[in-house]
Amino acid sequence: MVMPPLSFFIFFFFSISAAVSSGSLPQPAPKSLTIGYIQKAGDCNYRVNITTSCSSPFHITAEIGVLFGDAHGNQIYEPKLEVESSKALAKCSKDIFELTGPCTDQICFFYLYKKGSDDWIPETVEISSPDIDTVKYKYNSSIPEDTWYGFDDCQYFTSPPPPPPSPPAPSTAGHQRRLKWLAYVIPVLLSSAVL
Ligand SMILES: *[C@@H]1O[C@H](CO)[C@@H](O)[C@H](O)[C@H]1NC(C)=O
Ligand SMILES: *[C@@H]1O[C@H](CO)[C@@H](O)[C@H](O)[C@H]1NC(C)=O
Repeated sequence: MVMPPLSFFIFFFFSISAAVSSGSLPQPAPKSLTIGYIQKAGDCNYRVNITTSCSSPFHITAEIGVLFGDAHGNQIYEPKLEVESSKALAKCSKDIFELTGPCTDQICFFYLYKKGSDDWIPETVEISSPDIDTVKYKYNSSIPEDTWYGFDDCQYFTSPPPPPPSPPAPSTAGHQRRLKWLAYVIPVLLSSAVL
């Protein structure tokens, strides 16, 4: 049997991780996620709109928590969203939650947490605040119990990113994603060269 070269597998692996991290599908938070419990207080207001799928149950008793923030480690953490009626987070509903927390830069990650066994199916989540762009994430799938589950599109720069190369970019849309992709491809090319 002819084995494909190892670099093929490496490329395959990295292509998959690149696709997953592009934020198209919700996934469990990485083990490295740390919650800044002490950051609960703050001066900024956030509105989180959650729509629930029409395939979700008529009523849920599970407690739902949210955690979101920016690439600098600022987090808004609410372990249990306060619901005002038993219809909250029910089939086809749209619920709005007002949260307060530390002021953040652009929101780039969002996780939901479910404590309880109801098969709740969130559809979309939108987060807005006066000084940041509204962000929207699509779940449209049930979420596992006792797991932070969602999206992380943050680019965690420890220092400012280097200036872009001089040739003018034809279009800015998708530019960042392409750079991110390159970051995966370069190590692969290097490793193929070594192999
Ligand atoms: C949340 O819902 C309210 C009421 O429908 C709407 O005015 C607001 O624009 C929504 N915000 C976001 C971020 O979707
Ligand atoms: C979620 O899935 C349902 C059924 O598959 C579909 O009708 C609905 O449009 C989807 N919602 C979004 C926001 O994609």
